[in-house]
Amino acid sequence: MDGYTRVVEHLDLKGIAVEAGSGTDHGSTPFLAEHFIWQKIEFHTADPDPIAYRKVIDFDGVIAHNERAEKVIAGLNNICFGYLDGYDIGDVDKEESYQNRYRRIGYGDFSLRECAESHLKQAMLIEERSADKCVVIFDDTNFRWNKIRGKGALAVPYLIAKGFQPIDAFEEMEDSYAAWVVLRRDK
Ligand SMILES: C[S@@+](CC[C@H](N)C(=O)[O-])C[C@H]1O[C@@H](n2cnc3c(N)ncnc32)[C@H](O)[C@@H]1O
Repeated sequence: MDGYTRVVEHLDLKGIAVEAGSGTDHGSTPFLAEHFIWQKIEFHTADPDPIAYRKVIDFDGVIAHNERAEKVIAGLNNICFGYLDGYDIGDVDKEESYQNRYRRIGYGDFSLRECAESHLKQAMLIEERSADKCVVIFDDTNFRWNKIRGKGALAVPYLIAKGFQPIDAFEEMEDSYAAWVVLRRDK
């Protein structure tokens, strides 16, 4: 099971939903679109890679943006859900190496630090613009109280300091990036 499927456990959310990192490879965008259509929640997905963007533009219930999620989130308000899965870490992509992808979309070389900083920026923007009830799920993030690693390495401690509670976490095996964490805040 992937982390984004945990959204079905939060049926009381109201507001706008956003995904950083669009795609069909792991199925998050079509899965979330279907869920949010049923919940009558507006759903945005953002990806700076035109190849990823083109894969999701035709799905019902998706407002797709060919932009960095930071830019898209800055234009939204009343955010009740964020699935933060930008960048790629973990298993090597079957279609294209990360370095190639990130050079192709104008990022320069891929770095774990930049990846964590980008997720921190997204989390800060969501926190500032959050609805009363807000759930944020980070993919590829190992969560333990004494050690947080991966995409959410900087963002998870930030959200916890702002009153979000980690309510679920999964790690396929110790230190693998096949991991995710769910945080929620009810104001
Ligand atoms: C792991 S993939 C997303 C997979 C997708 N969620 C799925 O389930 O199939 C990561 C994506 O993040 C995108 N990305 C990189 N930087 C980003 C940013 N700042 N905002 C949004 N997406 C970003 C990459 O172009 C890549 O397509």
